[in-house]
Amino acid sequence: MSPDLSPIDKAKYAAARRASDLVEDGMRVGLGTGSTAAWLVRCLGERVRDEGLRFRAVPTSARTAELARELGIEVIGLGDAGWLDLTIDGADEVDPDLSLIKGGGGALLHEKIVATASDRMVVIADAAKEVETLGKFPLPVEIIGFGWQATRALIEEALASLDVAGRETVLRMDGETPYATDEGNRILDLHLGRIGDPRQLALVLNQVPGVVENGLFIDICDRVVIGHPDGRVEMRDLATGAVSEDRVEIGENLFDDLEG
Ligand code: A5P
Repeated sequence: MSPDLSPIDKAKYAAARRASDLVEDGMRVGLGTGSTAAWLVRCLGERVRDEGLRFRAVPTSARTAELARELGIEVIGLGDAGWLDLTIDGADEVDPDLSLIKGGGGALLHEKIVATASDRMVVIADAAKEVETLGKFPLPVEIIGFGWQATRALIEEALASLDVAGRETVLRMDGETPYATDEGNRILDLHLGRIGDPRQLALVLNQVPGVVENGLFIDICDRVVIGHPDGRVEMRDLATGAVSEDRVEIGENLFDDLEG
């Protein structure tokens, strides 16, 4: 690990390091997507190498799969896994009910399928992801390419009667062309400002023809692990409401050899 790692990366690392301890021999584990999930994959790669940890991983994106394989983690498909013991993933926003906005990295569809096919979902994040009310982060919605303009118009019509602060919808781009998900679909980012009723919004969005899935994760996350730049880690469990604290050592040059 580089000594000049940013405070935010130290916080993400701390959360990822703590959550990596939850993985045990023989488990089938869903691996999330994004910069925090990438720290998790590095931590798990280190445990595979140094401790001989043996587990099978179902990645939520092509880029996570590539990183996991590079680090010697056994990668399998969700079909082969059947069911997962645990999924660990990042998030764009987390509210007090552990409802989430996800999909900033474009992998929300696979992330939701993998998380809901797991006994437990643990979210790892830095403290900036914690919010009182969801919606400041634009809500990603995966839609199919065919007739996407009609899908967008229907979404905008639906938003008009919902409790949200903003209603701008933006087609995500990758340079000059629309961003394509791992399934070849498009993403509409909904700039809502504040989502008054996330449960209702999630239901309404998924009824619009052309919508494949939305980035609201409700009643899916069981535990959140929040990291801080000084290595402090807070864990919050949904079922028990229990909050616990821990500390992770943030050393230097941890991943130099793994990063090559
Ligand atoms: C990927 O599609 C997302 O759901 C990510 O989990 C989310 O964007 C968090 O990413 P970072 O860990 O990079 O902040």
